[in-house]
Amino acid sequence: MGFLFLVLLCLLFFTSTEANQQCRLRLNNLLGGMNPNPSTLPTATVSSASVSGSPSTATSTSALPSRTPFDYANEKIRGVNLGGWFVLEPWITPSIFENTNDDAIVDEFTLGQRTDPNDTLKMLQNHWDTWITEDDFAAIAAAGLNHVRIPLGYWSVPLTPSDTNQSTSVSPYIPGAWPYLLRALNWAATHNIHVIVDLHGAPGSQNGYDNSGQRTDNPQWALSSQNVSRTIDTMVFVAREIGGMIDVLELLNEPAGFRSETFADVTRQYFQDSYDAVRGAVGDDIRIGIGDAFLGVDNWDGFLTAPNGQGVIMDKHMYQIFSNLELSRSNDEHISFACSQIPDLVSYAASNIWTIIGEWSNAPTDCAKWLNGRGAVAQVRKMNVFADWYWEVQIEIGERINGWIFWAWKAENADEWSYQRGLEGGWIPQDPTSRLYPNICS
Ligand SMILES: *[C@@H]1O[C@H](CO)[C@@H](O)[C@H](O)[C@H]1NC(C)=O
Ligand SMILES: *[C@@H]1O[C@H](CO)[C@@H](O)[C@H](O)[C@H]1NC(C)=O
Ligand SMILES: *[C@@H]1O[C@H](CO)[C@@H](O)[C@H](O)[C@H]1NC(C)=O
Repeated sequence: MGFLFLVLLCLLFFTSTEANQQCRLRLNNLLGGMNPNPSTLPTATVSSASVSGSPSTATSTSALPSRTPFDYANEKIRGVNLGGWFVLEPWITPSIFENTNDDAIVDEFTLGQRTDPNDTLKMLQNHWDTWITEDDFAAIAAAGLNHVRIPLGYWSVPLTPSDTNQSTSVSPYIPGAWPYLLRALNWAATHNIHVIVDLHGAPGSQNGYDNSGQRTDNPQWALSSQNVSRTIDTMVFVAREIGGMIDVLELLNEPAGFRSETFADVTRQYFQDSYDAVRGAVGDDIRIGIGDAFLGVDNWDGFLTAPNGQGVIMDKHMYQIFSNLELSRSNDEHISFACSQIPDLVSYAASNIWTIIGEWSNAPTDCAKWLNGRGAVAQVRKMNVFADWYWEVQIEIGERINGWIFWAWKAENADEWSYQRGLEGGWIPQDPTSRLYPNICS
């Protein structure tokens, strides 16, 4: 998901009458004091699953259930992101970070650097096993949703030296999530949920956000051709291993195209090269996701459109909380801003490629609860005033194009970011097509 969530100190709370924000984004620089070299860890020992076959995990040997194919041209993607699962984010699972008793652990990179790798692997395995379970897939299906988007870090992909000419080291990350991903793909198929696997963390970090795995002011991904070529090899590997079990492979989440011309140019070339490599490896069936790299969809006019590309989805993210300007919007302004985005997106989607809002939330503030101990009940009561309205306007955008994917299904205690809590609290409807405010944008 979006940006700088790490050290948000929200001392006051959003209220319905007070849209001026008390919570502001705070950069922090806690990356000092690094521990060199943790020991090597066992990597996932999963043998290859063929594109059409079932995953060879210890947990599943049954044949892959067959799923109704999804008609991307005519159906609407309605889904949730399984955030905080295979790529940790401190604000989604603060308990994991608090339990380290080490303030310098601010992302998965520093977690790997500064902890005992064997203990941390055990902790992570427990997290991978419990954060999302088959019951969640059942609940997602019951909520009328048809997709999940699963963020994945490159360190969880068991590349071997025969898959790449680049380094295959993932140090200091702790690998091991891959078999849990394979198990999840089986659950998805069982519950008729379609899957977008999204490369959320690339070698060197594509944006420097904690949600890329490594929080840094100096992300290296686009500055190193080795990193980029390893990323392409990683996508080919993923497509070969699990391409038959997923619907969409999204080549890279939120590359920071705004950082420099190099970042923007390398991202563009990467999308093209990675698209070609994946098509070359597994053919035309799999859909391929790209993003706008924060440059706006207009910057991607004509990119990977037919006949240069087919089956491509533009994943645009929409949060109105990552600048002071956005935070200063009133509730009405949040709504009208959201509505104002529709014409451009509709026109881009109509003349280019399928387009979705692949990340958004109900949060009109950056007050994700990380350090305050406020009870969830109070938060829910306050949120109801605006959340259902805000939810609907954003749904409206997604439904006007090819769909939407909410961030996220769960969060430990940031309710406005949790679809699950929204269903429980009643500000997200049980049927995502029902409306309290039809024509909200007209
Ligand atoms: C981790 O466990 C392995 C296998 O049990 C052992 O060889 C290794 O020394 C342990 N590493 C640490 C840092 O304790
Ligand atoms: C690695 O390099 C060799 C020799 O240049 C080349 O033939 C091969 O295709 C490369 N492999 C990958 C995965 O790029
Ligand atoms: C990224 O590129 C740098 C410079 O080429 C290299 O030293 C580093 O090992 C690469 N990172 C990964 C994770 O492959």
